[in-house]
Amino acid sequence: MKFKTTKNQNTRFNDINWNDLRFGQFFSDHMFIVNYKNGKWDDGEIVPYGPLPIEPAMCTLHYAQACFEGLKAFRDVKGGANLFRPEKNAARLNHSGERLCIPNLDVNFQVEAMEELVKIDNKFIPTKRGQSLYLRPFVFGSANFLGVHASSEYMYIIITSPVSSYYANGLEPVKILITDEYVRAVRGGLGNTKAAANYAASLYGGTKAKEKGFSQVLWLDGVTLNFVDEVGAMNIMFVIDGEIVTPSLEQGTILPGITRMSVLELASELGLKATERRISVQEVVEAHRSGHLQECFGTGTAAVISPVGQLTYKGEDMIINNNKIGPIAQKLYDTITGIQYGEIEDKKGWVRHFEF
Ligand code: PLP
Ligand code: COI
Repeated sequence: MKFKTTKNQNTRFNDINWNDLRFGQFFSDHMFIVNYKNGKWDDGEIVPYGPLPIEPAMCTLHYAQACFEGLKAFRDVKGGANLFRPEKNAARLNHSGERLCIPNLDVNFQVEAMEELVKIDNKFIPTKRGQSLYLRPFVFGSANFLGVHASSEYMYIIITSPVSSYYANGLEPVKILITDEYVRAVRGGLGNTKAAANYAASLYGGTKAKEKGFSQVLWLDGVTLNFVDEVGAMNIMFVIDGEIVTPSLEQGTILPGITRMSVLELASELGLKATERRISVQEVVEAHRSGHLQECFGTGTAAVISPVGQLTYKGEDMIINNNKIGPIAQKLYDTITGIQYGEIEDKKGWVRHFEF
């Protein structure tokens, strides 16, 4: 054991409804905690999952100096488990942290903590295809004060949660509202980080969309409202005339998704053309009207590849591929999940495999 470990004497295993693993509702027995104080991180330890002692003046409750990550551990069909590109999540947490004045945490240290935590709670990795153990690393200012400035103390924690698909209906296409009323991020802001505040900013528009029967919002750029950014918890991709197109990242308002990156890296191997560029909402509407918009799907850790069956913009409902998953989304889903579950050879070294 690399980290000091205190075993949970009261397992949570039997409290979990294994027949209905709603996303992020159940938590496993242990969590990893490391504290930052006096200019350095301590050694970190694994302890039973449970409440944290928090003072009302803890700065994050007031000023949201917090960011998080999301990645999954999969039960390998040949035994053991696979973490999917965990070093990318660790590096992205540091990138988010930097923008929020949160001190970095060594990437290898983070990945070792993830692996050790999954090993100790390996019985919580679900056994069915489509299910996984979701890891949620997060870091936040933990000092107690009310002045607006960066915290002098931080906590980095990893919790894990057995999950099935993010959307209740699995691979069923989702309905998404393109909003021109609210924005998620602006140039120079936090858009390309996993700052907790981005999710707070998205809640109001997201709730309004849900009231109208949509599962998520597709956000447009916060300056002109002309260009497509991303969905609440996914990056967005379109297939227009056989080519995958996805919004480029140079404006700094879009989260650089690891699933997005993986799709772009896989595309040429699968004989697909994929392009990153700015995409106007008008282009999407016109491609749909003229019959050139063949597929639309979201990419994300929680959502994997999630087909979009309907986009609605300014009252115009665009039904895509007869509200069915298209061949390109299906191929990407099969390939990525195949690698994650150890069914397809991992030629790119994406998977961190370990036994327990
Ligand atoms: N965009 C947002 C806002 C997200 O929350 C996520 C989920 O992590 C993504 C995109 C997809 O990123 P990834 O593929 O790294 O999970
Ligand atoms: C993820 O896909 O890991 C996410 O972070 C999405 C979400 C549940 C916020």
